Amino acid sequence: MPPVANSPGGASPPKPGFMGWLNKRLPVDAFVRSQLLEYFAPKNFNIWYFFGSLALLVLVMQLVTGIYLTMFYKPGEATAFDSVEFIMREVDWGWLIRYLHSTGASFFFVVVYLHMFRAMLYGSYKSPRELLWVIGMLIYLALMAEAFFGYVLPWGNMSFWGAQVIVNLFGTIPGIGPGLVEWIRGDYGIADATLNRFFALHVAAVPLALLLLVVLHLVALRQTGSNNPDGIEIKEHPGPDGRPVDGIPFHPYYTVKDVFGVGVFLTIFALVVFFAPTLGGLFLEGPNFEPANPLSTPAHIAPVWYFTPYYAILRAVPDQRMGALLMALSVAVFLFLPWLDRSKIKSIRYRPLRYRIALTLFVIAFLVLMYLGLQPAEGVYVILARIFTVIYFAFFVFMPFYTRNERGRPVPSRVTYHAH
Ligand code: HEM
Repeated sequence: MPPVANSPGGASPPKPGFMGWLNKRLPVDAFVRSQLLEYFAPKNFNIWYFFGSLALLVLVMQLVTGIYLTMFYKPGEATAFDSVEFIMREVDWGWLIRYLHSTGASFFFVVVYLHMFRAMLYGSYKSPRELLWVIGMLIYLALMAEAFFGYVLPWGNMSFWGAQVIVNLFGTIPGIGPGLVEWIRGDYGIADATLNRFFALHVAAVPLALLLLVVLHLVALRQTGSNNPDGIEIKEHPGPDGRPVDGIPFHPYYTVKDVFGVGVFLTIFALVVFFAPTLGGLFLEGPNFEPANPLSTPAHIAPVWYFTPYYAILRAVPDQRMGALLMALSVAVFLFLPWLDRSKIKSIRYRPLRYRIALTLFVIAFLVLMYLGLQPAEGVYVILARIFTVIYFAFFVFMPFYTRNERGRPVPSRVTYHAH
Protein backbone atom coordinates (compact mmCIF):
# COMPACT_ATOMS: atom_id res chain seq x y z
CA MET A 1 0.00 0.00 0.00
CA PRO A 2 1.44 3.44 -0.85
CA PRO A 3 2.13 5.62 2.19
CA VAL A 4 -0.78 7.83 3.18
CA ALA A 5 -0.16 11.57 2.86
CA ASN A 6 -1.29 11.94 6.45
CA SER A 7 1.21 9.54 7.98
CA PRO A 8 4.28 11.05 9.61
CA GLY A 9 7.46 9.94 8.00
CA GLY A 10 5.63 8.39 5.04
CA ALA A 11 6.66 10.50 2.04
CA SER A 12 4.04 10.69 -0.71
CA PRO A 13 5.05 9.41 -4.15
CA PRO A 14 5.96 12.22 -6.58
CA LYS A 15 2.88 13.58 -8.33
CA PRO A 16 2.59 13.56 -12.10
CA GLY A 17 1.74 16.60 -14.22
CA PHE A 18 1.78 20.24 -13.20
CA MET A 19 1.79 19.59 -9.43
CA GLY A 20 4.83 17.35 -9.83
CA TRP A 21 6.58 20.09 -11.80
CA LEU A 22 5.60 22.71 -9.22
CA ASN A 23 6.58 20.62 -6.18
CA LYS A 24 10.08 20.20 -7.56
CA ARG A 25 10.41 23.97 -7.62
CA LEU A 26 8.22 25.08 -4.68
CA PRO A 27 7.38 22.76 -1.77
CA VAL A 28 3.61 23.26 -1.98
CA ASP A 29 2.52 19.75 -1.04
CA ALA A 30 5.21 19.44 1.63
CA PHE A 31 3.99 22.70 3.15
CA VAL A 32 0.33 21.63 3.14
CA ARG A 33 1.31 18.29 4.66
CA SER A 34 3.49 19.69 7.43
CA GLN A 35 1.27 22.66 8.29
CA LEU A 36 -2.22 21.25 7.86
CA LEU A 37 -2.41 17.48 7.44
CA GLU A 38 0.30 16.59 9.91
CA TYR A 39 -0.23 19.51 12.25
CA PHE A 40 -2.09 18.06 15.20
CA ALA A 41 -4.28 20.43 17.18
CA PRO A 42 -6.00 19.55 20.46
CA LYS A 43 -9.27 17.76 19.82
CA ASN A 44 -11.22 19.78 22.40
CA PHE A 45 -11.28 23.27 20.82
CA ASN A 46 -14.51 25.10 21.57
CA ILE A 47 -16.24 28.27 20.34
CA TRP A 48 -13.45 30.48 21.74
CA TYR A 49 -11.04 29.03 19.22
CA PHE A 50 -12.90 30.57 16.26
CA PHE A 51 -11.51 34.04 16.79
CA GLY A 52 -7.94 33.54 15.56
CA SER A 53 -9.05 32.48 12.10
CA LEU A 54 -11.75 35.17 12.14
CA ALA A 55 -9.08 37.79 12.92
CA LEU A 56 -7.19 36.56 9.86
CA LEU A 57 -10.35 36.85 7.77
CA VAL A 58 -11.02 40.42 8.92
CA LEU A 59 -7.39 41.36 8.29
CA VAL A 60 -7.69 40.20 4.67
CA MET A 61 -11.05 41.96 4.27
CA GLN A 62 -9.59 45.21 5.56
CA LEU A 63 -6.62 44.97 3.21
CA VAL A 64 -8.78 44.28 0.14
CA THR A 65 -11.45 46.91 0.85
CA GLY A 66 -8.71 49.34 1.90
CA ILE A 67 -6.96 48.97 -1.47
CA TYR A 68 -10.24 49.76 -3.27
CA LEU A 69 -10.89 52.80 -1.08
CA THR A 70 -7.38 54.08 -1.75
CA MET A 71 -8.17 54.12 -5.48
CA PHE A 72 -10.72 56.90 -4.91
CA TYR A 73 -9.75 58.56 -1.64
CA LYS A 74 -7.75 61.80 -1.93
CA PRO A 75 -5.71 62.77 1.13
CA GLY A 76 -5.52 66.50 1.76
CA GLU A 77 -7.40 69.09 3.80
CA ALA A 78 -9.30 70.33 0.77
CA THR A 79 -10.14 66.97 -0.80
CA ALA A 80 -10.40 64.21 1.82
CA PHE A 81 -13.97 64.76 3.07
CA ASP A 82 -15.37 65.28 -0.43
CA SER A 83 -13.60 62.23 -1.80
CA VAL A 84 -15.28 60.07 0.85
CA GLU A 85 -18.67 61.59 -0.08
CA PHE A 86 -17.82 60.84 -3.71
CA ILE A 87 -17.08 57.21 -2.81
CA MET A 88 -20.42 56.98 -0.97
CA ARG A 89 -22.56 58.57 -3.70
CA GLU A 90 -20.87 58.29 -7.09
CA VAL A 91 -18.48 55.35 -7.17
CA ASP A 92 -20.20 52.10 -8.17
CA TRP A 93 -20.62 50.03 -5.00
CA GLY A 94 -18.42 52.58 -3.21
CA TRP A 95 -20.88 52.76 -0.31
CA LEU A 96 -20.56 49.01 0.17
CA ILE A 97 -16.76 49.02 0.11
CA ARG A 98 -16.67 51.88 2.59
CA TYR A 99 -19.17 50.30 4.97
CA LEU A 100 -17.36 46.96 4.76
CA HIS A 101 -14.17 48.77 5.75
CA SER A 102 -15.64 50.90 8.54
CA THR A 103 -17.68 47.99 9.97
CA GLY A 104 -14.63 45.75 9.54
CA ALA A 105 -12.62 48.05 11.80
CA SER A 106 -15.09 47.64 14.67
CA PHE A 107 -15.48 43.90 14.11
CA PHE A 108 -11.70 43.55 14.09
CA PHE A 109 -11.69 44.80 17.66
CA VAL A 110 -14.68 42.65 18.68
CA VAL A 111 -12.85 39.59 17.36
CA VAL A 112 -9.48 40.54 18.84
CA TYR A 113 -10.96 41.33 22.27
CA LEU A 114 -12.69 37.94 22.36
CA HIS A 115 -9.46 36.30 21.13
CA MET A 116 -7.50 37.94 23.96
CA PHE A 117 -10.15 37.09 26.52
CA ARG A 118 -9.92 33.42 25.50
CA ALA A 119 -6.21 33.56 26.33
CA MET A 120 -7.13 34.90 29.78
CA LEU A 121 -9.71 32.15 30.28
CA TYR A 122 -7.38 29.30 29.43
CA GLY A 123 -4.01 30.74 30.48
CA SER A 124 -2.77 30.67 26.89
CA TYR A 125 -0.21 33.39 27.68
CA LYS A 126 1.64 31.16 30.13
CA SER A 127 4.81 29.21 29.46
CA PRO A 128 5.66 28.15 26.76
CA ARG A 129 3.47 30.74 24.94
CA GLU A 130 4.75 34.00 26.49
CA LEU A 131 6.28 35.20 23.23
CA LEU A 132 3.15 34.30 21.28
CA TRP A 133 1.24 36.56 23.69
CA VAL A 134 3.82 39.37 23.48
CA ILE A 135 3.68 39.27 19.67
CA GLY A 136 -0.12 39.32 19.98
CA MET A 137 0.16 42.45 22.12
CA LEU A 138 2.37 44.10 19.50
CA ILE A 139 -0.33 43.24 16.94
CA TYR A 140 -2.89 44.86 19.23
CA LEU A 141 -0.81 48.05 19.52
CA ALA A 142 -0.32 48.16 15.74
CA LEU A 143 -4.05 47.63 15.31
CA MET A 144 -4.80 50.56 17.61
CA ALA A 145 -2.45 52.78 15.62
CA GLU A 146 -3.99 51.59 12.35
CA ALA A 147 -7.53 52.31 13.58
CA PHE A 148 -6.56 55.74 14.87
CA PHE A 149 -4.86 56.83 11.62
CA GLY A 150 -7.77 55.45 9.59
CA TYR A 151 -10.28 57.38 11.66
CA VAL A 152 -8.55 60.67 10.84
CA LEU A 153 -8.64 60.11 7.07
CA PRO A 154 -12.30 61.06 6.26
CA TRP A 155 -11.46 64.46 7.78
CA GLY A 156 -14.79 64.73 9.53
CA ASN A 157 -15.12 66.95 12.57
CA MET A 158 -14.54 64.07 14.98
CA SER A 159 -11.49 62.96 12.94
CA PHE A 160 -10.03 66.40 13.43
CA TRP A 161 -10.81 66.80 17.12
CA GLY A 162 -9.99 63.18 17.96
CA ALA A 163 -6.57 63.65 16.36
CA GLN A 164 -6.19 66.87 18.32
CA VAL A 165 -6.83 65.14 21.65
CA ILE A 166 -4.73 62.04 20.99
CA VAL A 167 -1.72 63.82 19.48
CA ASN A 168 -1.74 66.36 22.32
CA LEU A 169 -1.37 63.49 24.80
CA PHE A 170 2.22 63.14 23.64
CA GLY A 171 2.72 66.71 24.88
CA THR A 172 2.46 65.42 28.46
CA ILE A 173 5.80 63.58 28.15
CA PRO A 174 8.22 65.62 30.29
CA GLY A 175 10.87 67.57 28.40
CA ILE A 176 10.38 66.36 24.86
CA GLY A 177 6.54 66.55 24.85
CA PRO A 178 5.84 69.84 23.03
CA GLY A 179 8.56 69.24 20.40
CA LEU A 180 7.30 65.70 19.85
CA VAL A 181 3.73 66.90 19.25
CA GLU A 182 4.93 69.34 16.61
CA TRP A 183 7.04 66.64 14.98
CA ILE A 184 4.07 64.23 14.81
CA ARG A 185 1.76 66.88 13.33
CA GLY A 186 4.34 68.31 10.92
CA ASP A 187 2.70 71.68 11.57
CA TYR A 188 1.61 73.94 14.42
CA GLY A 189 -1.83 72.35 14.40
CA ILE A 190 -3.56 69.26 13.00
CA ALA A 191 -3.32 70.14 9.32
CA ASP A 192 -2.69 69.01 5.76
CA ALA A 193 0.78 67.65 6.60
CA THR A 194 -0.67 65.59 9.46
CA LEU A 195 -3.38 64.11 7.26
CA ASN A 196 -0.88 63.18 4.54
CA ARG A 197 1.50 61.40 6.89
CA PHE A 198 -1.35 59.60 8.65
CA PHE A 199 -2.48 58.42 5.21
CA ALA A 200 1.00 57.03 4.45
CA LEU A 201 1.12 55.30 7.82
CA HIS A 202 -2.42 53.91 7.45
CA VAL A 203 -2.08 52.46 3.96
CA ALA A 204 1.57 51.38 3.91
CA ALA A 205 3.66 51.38 7.09
CA VAL A 206 1.28 49.95 9.69
CA PRO A 207 -0.34 47.30 7.43
CA LEU A 208 3.15 46.01 6.56
CA ALA A 209 4.07 45.86 10.24
CA LEU A 210 0.76 44.11 10.99
CA LEU A 211 1.32 41.50 8.31
CA LEU A 212 4.83 40.81 9.52
CA LEU A 213 3.67 40.50 13.12
CA VAL A 214 0.80 38.17 12.17
CA VAL A 215 3.25 35.89 10.33
CA LEU A 216 5.51 35.87 13.42
CA HIS A 217 2.44 35.18 15.58
CA LEU A 218 1.55 32.13 13.52
CA VAL A 219 5.14 30.85 13.43
CA ALA A 220 5.32 31.15 17.22
CA LEU A 221 1.96 29.36 17.50
CA ARG A 222 3.21 26.53 15.27
CA GLN A 223 6.31 26.20 17.42
CA THR A 224 4.48 25.72 20.74
CA GLY A 225 1.23 24.33 19.37
CA SER A 226 -2.16 25.57 20.54
CA ASN A 227 -3.27 25.55 24.12
CA ASN A 228 -6.84 24.29 24.71
CA PRO A 229 -9.82 24.72 27.08
CA ASP A 230 -8.29 22.24 29.56
CA GLY A 231 -4.89 23.96 29.53
CA ILE A 232 -3.11 20.62 29.12
CA GLU A 233 -0.09 20.26 26.82
CA ILE A 234 -1.07 17.62 24.27
CA LYS A 235 2.58 17.21 23.21
CA GLU A 236 3.27 15.65 26.60
CA HIS A 237 1.12 12.64 25.67
CA PRO A 238 2.48 11.16 22.45
CA GLY A 239 1.13 7.84 21.19
CA PRO A 240 3.31 4.98 19.86
CA ASP A 241 3.39 6.66 16.42
CA GLY A 242 4.72 9.90 17.94
CA ARG A 243 1.48 11.85 17.38
CA PRO A 244 -0.18 13.45 20.37
CA VAL A 245 -3.01 11.13 21.40
CA ASP A 246 -5.28 14.10 22.08
CA GLY A 247 -4.50 15.78 18.76
CA ILE A 248 -6.38 15.69 15.47
CA PRO A 249 -5.10 16.83 12.04
CA PHE A 250 -5.82 20.51 11.52
CA HIS A 251 -7.15 19.68 8.07
CA PRO A 252 -9.91 18.63 7.58
CA TYR A 253 -11.18 18.88 11.16
CA TYR A 254 -10.47 22.49 12.02
CA THR A 255 -10.58 23.88 8.49
CA VAL A 256 -14.19 22.66 8.32
CA LYS A 257 -14.95 23.99 11.81
CA ASP A 258 -13.45 27.38 10.91
CA VAL A 259 -15.51 27.58 7.70
CA PHE A 260 -18.63 27.21 9.85
CA GLY A 261 -17.38 30.02 12.12
CA VAL A 262 -16.76 32.20 9.07
CA GLY A 263 -20.37 31.58 7.91
CA VAL A 264 -21.87 32.66 11.24
CA PHE A 265 -19.53 35.63 11.45
CA LEU A 266 -20.29 36.86 7.93
CA THR A 267 -24.02 36.62 8.58
CA ILE A 268 -23.79 38.89 11.61
CA PHE A 269 -21.33 41.15 9.81
CA ALA A 270 -23.66 41.50 6.79
CA LEU A 271 -26.61 42.35 9.05
CA VAL A 272 -24.65 45.31 10.44
CA VAL A 273 -23.25 46.43 7.06
CA PHE A 274 -26.65 46.40 5.35
CA PHE A 275 -29.01 47.41 8.13
CA ALA A 276 -27.05 49.41 10.71
CA PRO A 277 -23.65 50.51 9.36
CA THR A 278 -23.32 53.33 11.88
CA LEU A 279 -24.74 51.17 14.70
CA GLY A 280 -26.45 54.16 16.25
CA GLY A 281 -23.30 56.27 16.19
CA LEU A 282 -21.16 53.58 17.79
CA PHE A 283 -19.31 52.42 14.66
CA LEU A 284 -19.49 55.74 12.77
CA GLU A 285 -20.08 58.83 14.89
CA GLY A 286 -22.51 61.62 13.99
CA PRO A 287 -20.01 64.52 14.02
CA ASN A 288 -17.93 62.69 11.45
CA PHE A 289 -20.57 63.28 8.82
CA GLU A 290 -19.67 67.00 9.07
CA PRO A 291 -16.40 68.27 7.57
CA ALA A 292 -13.48 69.06 9.90
CA ASN A 293 -13.87 72.49 11.41
CA PRO A 294 -11.09 73.88 13.63
CA LEU A 295 -13.51 76.60 14.82
CA SER A 296 -16.25 74.27 16.03
CA THR A 297 -15.48 71.67 18.70
CA PRO A 298 -18.03 68.81 18.85
CA ALA A 299 -20.14 69.07 22.01
CA HIS A 300 -18.58 65.89 23.31
CA ILE A 301 -15.35 64.41 21.96
CA ALA A 302 -15.11 60.64 22.32
CA PRO A 303 -13.15 58.03 20.41
CA VAL A 304 -14.76 54.98 18.83
CA TRP A 305 -16.06 52.38 21.34
CA TYR A 306 -12.97 50.15 21.24
CA PHE A 307 -10.78 52.89 22.70
CA THR A 308 -13.25 54.16 25.30
CA PRO A 309 -12.14 52.00 28.27
CA TYR A 310 -8.70 53.63 28.06
CA TYR A 311 -10.22 57.06 27.37
CA ALA A 312 -12.35 56.75 30.52
CA ILE A 313 -9.18 56.00 32.51
CA LEU A 314 -7.50 59.08 30.99
CA ARG A 315 -10.36 61.31 32.08
CA ALA A 316 -10.80 59.72 35.50
CA VAL A 317 -7.62 61.43 36.69
CA PRO A 318 -7.73 65.20 37.32
CA ASP A 319 -4.06 65.72 36.42
CA GLN A 320 -3.67 65.39 32.64
CA ARG A 321 -0.09 64.13 32.80
CA MET A 322 -0.99 61.48 35.35
CA GLY A 323 -4.08 60.52 33.33
CA ALA A 324 -2.03 60.04 30.16
CA LEU A 325 0.48 57.90 32.06
CA LEU A 326 -2.26 55.72 33.55
CA MET A 327 -3.89 55.34 30.15
CA ALA A 328 -0.60 54.18 28.61
CA LEU A 329 -0.12 51.78 31.52
CA SER A 330 -3.64 50.40 31.20
CA VAL A 331 -2.77 49.15 27.71
CA ALA A 332 0.85 48.16 28.35
CA VAL A 333 0.05 46.14 31.46
CA PHE A 334 -1.38 43.28 29.37
CA LEU A 335 2.15 42.66 28.10
CA PHE A 336 3.19 41.50 31.54
CA LEU A 337 0.35 39.04 32.14
CA PRO A 338 2.55 35.94 31.59
CA TRP A 339 4.73 37.02 34.50
CA LEU A 340 2.09 38.55 36.75
CA ASP A 341 0.05 35.35 36.78
CA ARG A 342 1.94 32.97 39.08
CA SER A 343 -0.55 30.10 39.00
CA LYS A 344 0.60 26.74 37.67
CA ILE A 345 -2.95 25.96 36.58
CA LYS A 346 -3.72 27.28 33.10
CA SER A 347 -7.42 26.81 32.48
CA ILE A 348 -10.15 28.62 34.38
CA ARG A 349 -11.96 25.27 34.50
CA TYR A 350 -9.59 24.16 37.25
CA ARG A 351 -8.62 27.46 38.86
CA PRO A 352 -10.02 28.39 42.28
CA LEU A 353 -12.97 30.70 42.84
CA ARG A 354 -10.79 33.69 43.67
CA TYR A 355 -9.34 33.81 40.14
CA ARG A 356 -12.80 33.46 38.63
CA ILE A 357 -14.05 36.35 40.75
CA ALA A 358 -11.00 38.49 39.86
CA LEU A 359 -11.46 37.88 36.11
CA THR A 360 -15.21 38.57 36.31
CA LEU A 361 -14.59 41.86 38.13
CA PHE A 362 -11.99 42.82 35.54
CA VAL A 363 -14.38 42.15 32.65
CA ILE A 364 -17.11 44.18 34.37
CA ALA A 365 -14.63 47.04 34.93
CA PHE A 366 -13.52 46.94 31.28
CA LEU A 367 -17.12 47.05 30.00
CA VAL A 368 -18.25 49.75 32.44
CA LEU A 369 -15.22 51.89 31.53
CA MET A 370 -16.09 51.32 27.87
CA TYR A 371 -19.55 52.75 28.55
CA LEU A 372 -18.22 55.61 30.67
CA GLY A 373 -15.75 56.63 27.98
CA LEU A 374 -18.71 57.32 25.72
CA GLN A 375 -20.37 59.60 28.31
CA PRO A 376 -19.43 63.20 29.15
CA ALA A 377 -16.70 63.45 31.81
CA GLU A 378 -18.84 64.97 34.53
CA GLY A 379 -20.63 64.20 37.81
CA VAL A 380 -21.34 60.59 38.61
CA TYR A 381 -19.63 59.37 35.44
CA VAL A 382 -16.26 60.60 36.71
CA ILE A 383 -16.76 59.06 40.14
CA LEU A 384 -17.71 55.72 38.59
CA ALA A 385 -14.73 55.93 36.22
CA ARG A 386 -12.43 56.36 39.24
CA ILE A 387 -13.92 53.36 41.05
CA PHE A 388 -13.68 51.10 38.00
CA THR A 389 -10.17 52.33 37.14
CA VAL A 390 -9.09 51.13 40.59
CA ILE A 391 -10.74 47.72 40.01
CA TYR A 392 -9.12 47.52 36.56
CA PHE A 393 -5.62 48.05 37.91
CA ALA A 394 -6.20 45.98 41.05
CA PHE A 395 -6.70 42.95 38.81
CA PHE A 396 -3.12 43.26 37.55
CA VAL A 397 -1.35 44.74 40.58
CA PHE A 398 -2.56 42.08 43.03
CA MET A 399 -2.33 39.23 40.53
CA PRO A 400 1.08 37.93 41.73
CA PHE A 401 -0.45 37.59 45.21
CA TYR A 402 -3.87 36.10 44.55
CA THR A 403 -2.51 33.63 41.97
CA ARG A 404 0.37 32.38 44.14
CA ASN A 405 0.05 28.82 45.47
CA GLU A 406 -3.28 28.36 43.74
CA ARG A 407 -5.07 25.16 44.59
CA GLY A 408 -8.09 24.56 42.45
CA ARG A 409 -9.90 21.50 41.17
CA PRO A 410 -7.66 18.59 40.14
CA VAL A 411 -6.38 19.00 36.57
CA PRO A 412 -7.00 15.81 34.54
CA SER A 413 -4.00 14.27 32.82
CA ARG A 414 -5.74 14.09 29.42
CA VAL A 415 -8.00 16.62 27.71
CA THR A 416 -11.72 16.20 28.24
CA TYR A 417 -13.90 15.88 25.18
CA HIS A 418 -17.58 15.09 24.89
CA ALA A 419 -18.77 14.21 21.39
CA HIS A 420 -22.07 15.88 20.53
C1 HEM B 1 -4.56 40.43 13.54
C2 HEM B 1 -4.73 39.93 14.73
C3 HEM B 1 -4.53 38.47 15.10
C4 HEM B 1 -4.56 37.36 14.31
C5 HEM B 1 -4.82 37.29 12.80
C6 HEM B 1 -4.33 36.21 15.17
C7 HEM B 1 -4.30 34.89 14.73
C8 HEM B 1 -4.26 33.79 15.57
C9 HEM B 1 -4.56 32.45 15.17
C10 HEM B 1 -5.00 32.00 13.75
C11 HEM B 1 -4.43 31.65 16.27
C12 HEM B 1 -4.72 30.15 16.33
C13 HEM B 1 -6.22 29.93 16.41
C14 HEM B 1 -6.81 30.33 17.73
O1 HEM B 1 -6.21 29.99 18.76
O2 HEM B 1 -7.87 31.01 17.74
C15 HEM B 1 -3.99 32.49 17.36
C16 HEM B 1 -3.70 32.05 18.64
C17 HEM B 1 -3.32 32.89 19.69
N1 HEM B 1 -3.30 34.28 19.69
FE1 HEM B 1 -3.69 35.44 18.09
N2 HEM B 1 -4.13 36.64 16.46
C18 HEM B 1 -4.25 38.02 16.46
C19 HEM B 1 -4.14 38.85 17.56
C20 HEM B 1 -3.79 38.43 18.85
C21 HEM B 1 -3.67 39.30 20.00
C22 HEM B 1 -3.95 40.79 19.97
C23 HEM B 1 -3.28 38.49 21.04
C24 HEM B 1 -3.00 38.87 22.48
C25 HEM B 1 -2.60 40.00 22.90
C26 HEM B 1 -3.18 37.14 20.57
C27 HEM B 1 -2.81 36.03 21.34
C28 HEM B 1 -2.91 34.72 20.94
C29 HEM B 1 -2.64 33.55 21.78
C30 HEM B 1 -2.17 33.59 23.24
C31 HEM B 1 -2.90 32.42 21.00
C32 HEM B 1 -2.81 30.94 21.46
C33 HEM B 1 -4.13 30.60 22.06
C34 HEM B 1 -4.29 29.17 22.49
O3 HEM B 1 -3.62 28.31 21.92
O4 HEM B 1 -5.11 28.95 23.42
N3 HEM B 1 -3.50 37.13 19.24
N4 HEM B 1 -3.92 33.81 16.91
